[in-house]
Amino acid sequence: MLVLGVESSCDETGIALYDTDAGLLAHAVHTQVAMHEAYGGVVPELASRDHIRRLIPLLEVVLAEAGKAKADIGAIAYTAGPGLAGALLVGSSFAEALAVALDIPALPVHHLEGHLLSPLLATDRPEFPFVALLVSGGHTQLMEVTDIGEYRLLGESLDDAAGEAFDKTAKLLNLGYPGGPALAKLAESGTAGKLRLPRPMLNSGDLDFSFSGLKTAVLTAVRNAADSPADLAAEFQEAVTEVLAAKSLAAVRACGLSRLVVAGGVGANKRLRERLNAMAAKHKIRVYYPEVALCTDNGAMIAFCGAQRLMKQMAPKRDGAFAIRPRWPLDQINTSI
Ligand code: KG4
Ligand code: ZN
Repeated sequence: MLVLGVESSCDETGIALYDTDAGLLAHAVHTQVAMHEAYGGVVPELASRDHIRRLIPLLEVVLAEAGKAKADIGAIAYTAGPGLAGALLVGSSFAEALAVALDIPALPVHHLEGHLLSPLLATDRPEFPFVALLVSGGHTQLMEVTDIGEYRLLGESLDDAAGEAFDKTAKLLNLGYPGGPALAKLAESGTAGKLRLPRPMLNSGDLDFSFSGLKTAVLTAVRNAADSPADLAAEFQEAVTEVLAAKSLAAVRACGLSRLVVAGGVGANKRLRERLNAMAAKHKIRVYYPEVALCTDNGAMIAFCGAQRLMKQMAPKRDGAFAIRPRWPLDQINTSI
C-alpha cells in the first residue's frame, strides 16, 4: 500500500510517499528557516500560513518524483502532535480533507514516534528491542523500544532539550537561528577544554538530563570575554555530547540490551556520532542512525510510522474529523487522541 506522509508540526513542511512493499519512494521538505530568521525563532502564525502555501506544491513534486497519481495513494498519515497548534491544524485539515476526497483512511501520527522509528528507514536497520536516544529541539529522552507502539521512558531532560540548549547557546554567541548546526560548525575551529564547562547530571545515578545550567555558564563566559567563541562552542558541544553518550550507555546497560538508536535533529551532530561510535566500539554495542536528511523533521518518518501502525491495525482512535494534540505525552500514544 502507498502511504502519504504529512509533517507540519513546527517550521518544516514535509511530504513523502512510502510504499509498504517498495519502501520510501520520494520525500520533500520545505524549511521555513529563512522566513523565521529575522525574528530569532519560530513565529507560530507565520509558520501556519507558510505550511498552507507549501503543502500542495510539495505533494505535486513528490507524486511526480515517485511517478504516482493521487488515486494510487491508499492511506494518509499526518503529524497530529506534539507541536504548534496552528501548524498542526494545517497538516491535519489538509490530510483529512484529501483522505475524504480520495475515500481512504487518514491516521494521526505522534511526531516523536516518527523520529523514534526513522532509523528503521535506513538500509542498516536495527531489530527490536533497542534503546532510543531522542534528541530534538523540544525533547531529550531515553526510551526502551520493544516493538512498534511499545515505548518505556527511561529518562528525560528536566529543563531545556539538547537542541534547545544548542539553539540558545548559539544565540548567546550571535550565531543566529537555528543555532545547532551553526554552533557545531564554529566548534570545529575551536579547542575544547581551554575553559571547562560543567557536565550536568553526569553522575546523578539516573537517566535524566539538565542542560539549562550550561547555557548560563556560557553566558558568564561570554561576559568575561576571555575565551574565543569557537573555543566556547567546542567546549559546549563537548559537554553536551559527553553527557548524552554516557547516559545512553547507562540506559543500554540498565535494559540489558546491545542496540542504541539515535533520532532527532541533534542526531545529525558529528561530534555526538563520533563519541557514540567510540563508546559502542569499546562496549560492544551497535549504534544506528537515520540518514542525515531524515534526522530533522520530514514527512518520510511520518509516512513510515503511519504505515507500520496501519499494518498492525494500531491507528490511534480519534473523535471528529480534525485530530490534533499539541501536547501529546508519548506514554499516551496508543490511546485515543
Ligand atoms: O528534530 P528536529 O528537526 O525538530 C524538533 O522536532 O525539534 O530538531 C531540531 C533541533 C534544533 O534544535 C537544531 O538546532 C538541532 O536539532 N540540530 C543540531 C544539529 N542539526 C540540528 N544540533 C546540533 N548539531 C547539529 N548538527
Ligand atoms: Zn522533530
